[in-house]
Amino acid sequence: MQRWSILGALLIASRHAVAYDIFRDYSGSTFFDGWDFYGSFDNLTWGNVTWVTKEVGASQNLAYVNSENHVILKVDNVTNVTVGELRSSVRITTQDAYDLGSLWIIDLNHIPYGCSVWPAFWSFGPHWPEDGEIDIIEGINVNPSNQMAIHATQGCYHNGNTDQLGSTGSTDCSQGSGCTVGELSPNSYNSGFAQAGGGVFATQFDVSGIFMWFWSRADIPSSISQATSTSSIDISSWGTSHATFSSNMCNISQFFTPQNLVLDIDLCGVWAGVPSIYDSQCANEGPTGLCYNDSVVGPGSPRYDNAYFDINYVRTYTTSTNAPVATSTNAPPSGGSTLSMSANLAQSTGTSGGVARMHDLMASLTLALCVFAGTLLLTWSI
Ligand SMILES: *[C@@H]1O[C@H](CO)[C@@H](O)[C@H](O)[C@H]1NC(C)=O
Ligand SMILES: *[C@@H]1O[C@H](CO)[C@@H](O)[C@H](O)[C@H]1NC(C)=O
Ligand SMILES: *[C@@H]1O[C@H](CO)[C@@H](O)[C@H](O)[C@H]1NC(C)=O
Ligand SMILES: *[C@@H]1O[C@H](CO)[C@@H](O)[C@H](O)[C@H]1NC(C)=O
Ligand SMILES: *[C@@H]1O[C@H](CO)[C@@H](O)[C@H](O)[C@H]1NC(C)=O
Ligand SMILES: *[C@@H]1O[C@H](CO)[C@@H](O)[C@H](O)[C@H]1NC(C)=O
Repeated sequence: MQRWSILGALLIASRHAVAYDIFRDYSGSTFFDGWDFYGSFDNLTWGNVTWVTKEVGASQNLAYVNSENHVILKVDNVTNVTVGELRSSVRITTQDAYDLGSLWIIDLNHIPYGCSVWPAFWSFGPHWPEDGEIDIIEGINVNPSNQMAIHATQGCYHNGNTDQLGSTGSTDCSQGSGCTVGELSPNSYNSGFAQAGGGVFATQFDVSGIFMWFWSRADIPSSISQATSTSSIDISSWGTSHATFSSNMCNISQFFTPQNLVLDIDLCGVWAGVPSIYDSQCANEGPTGLCYNDSVVGPGSPRYDNAYFDINYVRTYTTSTNAPVATSTNAPPSGGSTLSMSANLAQSTGTSGGVARMHDLMASLTLALCVFAGTLLLTWSI
C-alpha cells in the first residue's frame, strides 16, 4: 500500500514539466513591439477609463521605457478630470498566444494600487469564458495582498487548500469571481511590494494543471535571478506552488485554449467600484462614497501617483515535453481574433530543444533513482 502511494506521488510529480526553453523576452526598448494597445473604453468590466492607443500612451507618458530600461504603464495622474469625463490608462495584449506547455514569468518593481485602482496581469483565449481566463496578479483599492484566480465554463473546480501555499476562496471556477486563491506570503501587493524591492510571479500552464508562484525580491530562486533573456530555465527547485489548479478538478486541456497575456490598469468598474466594496476600503476619499465621483473626478495627483506598473521583463517559455504550440495573432482591440496557424516552437525555432530534452532525461533518471531508493527504503522498513 505504502509503496504504491509513494510511487503514485512520484508518477504524478513526473507529469509536470521541469525544463523550459525561452520563447520571448519582452523588455526594454523592444517591449512594446510584442503587444497591442486596447485603445478603447472598458466595455468588459465597466471601469471609468479610456485605455489609450500606443501613440497616446507614448505622448502622454503612460506607456514608455524609462532611463533605467524599465517598462512603465500608468494611469494619468496629470489631468484634472471633470464630471462626465474618463481618465486615461493602459491595457495591452500580447500578439502571441501561449498554449499548454508554456511558462510565463514577470519581474516587477512596482504594482499599481490605491483607491479605485484595479490592476491585473492576466490571460484569456479568443472567447470568454469558453477559452478560459487566468489571473496572475490582481488587486483592487488598498487590498493588502495579491489574489490569483482562474475562470472557466461549468465543470471546472478548485480542490481547496491542498498542494498550495495560498488560501482558497471560491471553488467553482464558472461563478462570478472564478476560483480564487489569496496570496499568503508577505509583500505581494500594495506599498509593501515595492518597498521590498518588488518581486517575481511565475505561471506554469500545463496539461496537469495551472500553477502559480510568487517571490518577493529577497526570495527569488537562483534559477530565475541567474536567468538571462536567452537562457532556458529549470523549475524543479521552486517547491510547492502558491496557487494550484489541478487537472484532477478542472481538466485544463478541456477548459483552456491558447492564452494571450494582458497587462492593464482599470479604475472602479465591476470589482473595485462596487459601492459596498469601494466604500469598505475607501470611504474617506470623498463626500459621496462613490468610486467615480470621489476618486476618478478631480486632480490626478497625489491620488494616482502609485497607479503604475514598473516592469523589468515578461519572459515566456515553452517545453518540448508537452508539444508546445505558440501562435501569433494580430489581435484587434478586443483581443478577440482568430488564431492563425500554429507552429511547433521547438521545431520552428530550432533553439535549445536539446537542452530541454536533456533536462527531461535527467529528471527521468532522478525520478527512477527516487523510485529505486524509495522501494529500497520500504523493503528495508518492511
Ligand atoms: C479641477 O477642475 C475643477 C472643475 O473645473 C475645478 O473646480 C478645480 O479647481 C480643479 N482643481 C484643480 C486642482 O485644478
Ligand atoms: C463610471 O462607471 C460607472 C459604473 O460602471 C458608470 O455607471 C458611470 O456611467 C461611469 N461614468 C462615466 C463618466 O463613464
Ligand atoms: C480532458 O480533456 C481532453 C480534451 O478535451 C480530453 O481529451 C481528455 O480525455 C479529458 N480528460 C479527462 C480525464 O476527462
Ligand atoms: C456622481 O457623479 C455623477 C456624474 O457621473 C453625477 O450624476 C452624480 O450626481 C454624482 N453623485 C453624487 C452623489 O454626487
Ligand atoms: C505622477 O506620479 C509620478 C509617480 O508615479 C510622479 O513622479 C509625478 O510627479 C506625478 N505627477 C504629478 C503631476 O504629480
Ligand atoms: C469591446 O469593444 C471592442 C472594440 O470595439 C469590440 O471588438 C468588442 O467586441 C467589444 N466587447 C464587448 C464585450 O462588447
